[in-house]
Amino acid sequence: MCGILGCISNEDIVPMLLNGIKRLEYRGYDSWGLAVVEDKIKLIKNVGNINEECLNRLELKGSTGIAHTRWATHGGVTRENAHPHTSCGEEIAIVHNGIIENFQEIKRSLLAEGHKFMSQTDSEVIAHLLEKYYNKFKDIKKAILATVKRIKGNFAFLAIFQKDSDMIVGARKDSPLVIGIGKNKIFLASDVLSFIEHTDKVIFLDNLEVVIAKKDLLKIFDFKGKEVQKSVTQVAWEAYDVSKKEFSHYTLKEIYEQTNTLKSSLCQDQIKLNEFCNSIKSAKKLFITASGTSFHAGLLAKYLFSKISKVYCEAVLASEFNQIIEWVDKDTIILAISQSGETADVLDAVKKAKEKGAKILSIVNVVGSNLDRESHLTLYLNCGPEIGVAATKSFTSQLALIYFLAFTMINEYIGINKLKRLNECIDLIFKQKDKIVEIAEKYKNSNDFYFIGRSIHYPIALEGALKLKELSYIHAEGMAAGELKHGTLALIDIGTPVVVLNPKDQTYCDTLSNALEMKARGAKIIGISNLNNDVYDDLILLPEIDELFYPVIEVIPLQMLAYYLAINRGADVDKPRNLAKSVTVK
Ligand code: G6P
Repeated sequence: MCGILGCISNEDIVPMLLNGIKRLEYRGYDSWGLAVVEDKIKLIKNVGNINEECLNRLELKGSTGIAHTRWATHGGVTRENAHPHTSCGEEIAIVHNGIIENFQEIKRSLLAEGHKFMSQTDSEVIAHLLEKYYNKFKDIKKAILATVKRIKGNFAFLAIFQKDSDMIVGARKDSPLVIGIGKNKIFLASDVLSFIEHTDKVIFLDNLEVVIAKKDLLKIFDFKGKEVQKSVTQVAWEAYDVSKKEFSHYTLKEIYEQTNTLKSSLCQDQIKLNEFCNSIKSAKKLFITASGTSFHAGLLAKYLFSKISKVYCEAVLASEFNQIIEWVDKDTIILAISQSGETADVLDAVKKAKEKGAKILSIVNVVGSNLDRESHLTLYLNCGPEIGVAATKSFTSQLALIYFLAFTMINEYIGINKLKRLNECIDLIFKQKDKIVEIAEKYKNSNDFYFIGRSIHYPIALEGALKLKELSYIHAEGMAAGELKHGTLALIDIGTPVVVLNPKDQTYCDTLSNALEMKARGAKIIGISNLNNDVYDDLILLPEIDELFYPVIEVIPLQMLAYYLAINRGADVDKPRNLAKSVTVK
């Protein structure tokens, strides 16, 4: 998965491209590159993070160009495999996000026709196909339509041509592409975020559409070549605030934003909310599907819908959804949860369910994302852009919205008082920062961590372990506390840290026994509870709140613990190695 950006203007666009793809680094950041077209195409590419110095040295300038930030899928992380890729004569340059599934077959036939390839990527075939069809038809539109017809998989790509130095063409299938209309500037990008300071006027390209953009012309076609008229949407600038403010990392800023974001996630259109709830309540079958952190929110939704709303459902990992597809029919509701709305496994599950006639409800942060567009009804998280690769504020916003749904289904509302109390509790946890930093220091050399919790605390145990793995690279396992005795206990050794989620509710005594069992085997117990107990070697004190709401607040110290452990171990917190924020590959 990668980020792409193109811009046409009257002025030098290189600084805009550079800043823009920096904003897209959440989509991938192992290499980057950009190309401009004047009388010739000139390009620069590099491995690693975006480096301004390097660009200054090259003095690259131009008023039409494309740029890319990469997360490698096909072909290793090398300069050759970084985008843009060019055609044989270097008269066409392309950037691509997605996967061309039939690239090997296309590459073989292009090689046989004499094309020369410079990289191991699937993407390079796009440059050569455009070259082939442009030489054949001498017409840009025909060349791009022939190209999209030939490639299979998912893609959003942009191309510039030496022959027409104020033009960018693009196409999308199952990967996002948006157009920004600025004053004397046109942008084409994976995400509005990359150009929001230049314009808030956006056209969301639909699936299977092609765009030809020039300084004074914008034409959009479907894949059959029929022109389509699109409307311009004005997006909210504030929703795209991406400054790091006084924080050293986006992840930390996003952790601390959670008191505000909880509030905004509850700002929902009442009619839409009711329709959403009615669909869930009346579903003959209900499946929740998601990946990663969003799946943990989905798992909690399963518990809460059952406990609060008396609605039975199954939570299925999006990557495993195919295994239950025969149970999906026109009486089925799918609730898909995704921060990005671009996770390939989630989109795949949703498409398959739609083919079987299911109704798709989704909870999404990114407005206009593929999942949003594929859904019959979407509720937005409204938590603003999440730049840190590890999900933090989007998770608590998902939880808040799930509680909101669960209570609305029984005609009870999470009022302003409940929200105020949640925020007070989170603030009280922030005040324990020094304690959390101390725990992080104490356990910074541990190689394994365990997180346990029962019932509604179980999804949070999973999330705590995932956060720790992602941010600090420490091996961690989250599990239902009752499962400990069925194997994991064998791994508990002198000094093994175990985080025990144990606020006072019906699960309290059983979980406390599990903590004692581990302590007896030498474990160091980090308690997350509103009640102190001798079993805890360290305690992060949870403020008192209605017991059903503990999951929302108990995840905060786990996020902070993961953050400070990562800092202690020198990990790149905002961009953990090997990970991408939206995983658009299966
Ligand atoms: C990636 C991210 C995770 C995220 C997961 C699901 O693996 O690194 O942080 O939880 O995708 O993403 P989604 O956008 O669908 O919530």
